[in-house]
Amino acid sequence: MEKISRSEFTGSDTGFDSFFPQYIRELSHRHWTPFSVILEAADFLAQGGGRVLDIGSGIGKFCLLAAHRYPEVTFCGVEQREDLVELAILAKDFYKIENTDFLPGNFKDLNFDLYDHFYFYNSFFENLDDTDAIDSELDYSRGLYTLYSNLLLKQLDAKPSGTRLATFDVNISQIPGNYKLAKISKSDHLKLWIKH
Ligand SMILES: C[S@@+](CC[C@H](N)C(=O)[O-])C[C@H]1O[C@@H](n2cnc3c(N)ncnc32)[C@H](O)[C@@H]1O
Repeated sequence: MEKISRSEFTGSDTGFDSFFPQYIRELSHRHWTPFSVILEAADFLAQGGGRVLDIGSGIGKFCLLAAHRYPEVTFCGVEQREDLVELAILAKDFYKIENTDFLPGNFKDLNFDLYDHFYFYNSFFENLDDTDAIDSELDYSRGLYTLYSNLLLKQLDAKPSGTRLATFDVNISQIPGNYKLAKISKSDHLKLWIKH
């Protein structure tokens, strides 16, 4: 781990990665959102204000970088792997990024009423893909993918009009029909939605 300055940490993919141990850096390309995508998603979600939830927050890359950019908005992450949550909190404390909060656990147990807007980087896909897994600690199955996807669809569907959602690499079938595409992103894989 490299203790670089806060501006280096929040300034690029490589700057961010360099704070973390080697095994986490090796997961970066495949599992953590690219820097440029985070900036665009954060710009969109921060316009809604309030509390943004990253569903499956990993080492906190989205929340930490978005929170640094928008200190008046709170970016929260829920993550089922406790070791990743510990690393996110380590970075939050080291760089004093106060407007973030990282919760260990499964998103299915979270009260969605506490959050206003959402970021989602296809977190449940690990249940369909047996290559490049983050670790071999969890059970993966198509059944879990369907269960989680249906539950998220229901939670998002219940949110009020005006709720903002940014999705990265997510199939349109995972988005409730009452969310309308608000902006076509420069990155093909990022989609920005607002609930009607
Ligand atoms: C593709 S990574 C994205 C990480 C982070 N959002 C980012 O953009 O850098 C997806 C993360 O979701 C987590 N995850 C998958 N299913 C989850 C669930 N049911 N509840 C909480 N976290 C979950 C995984 O452990 C993984 O860290």
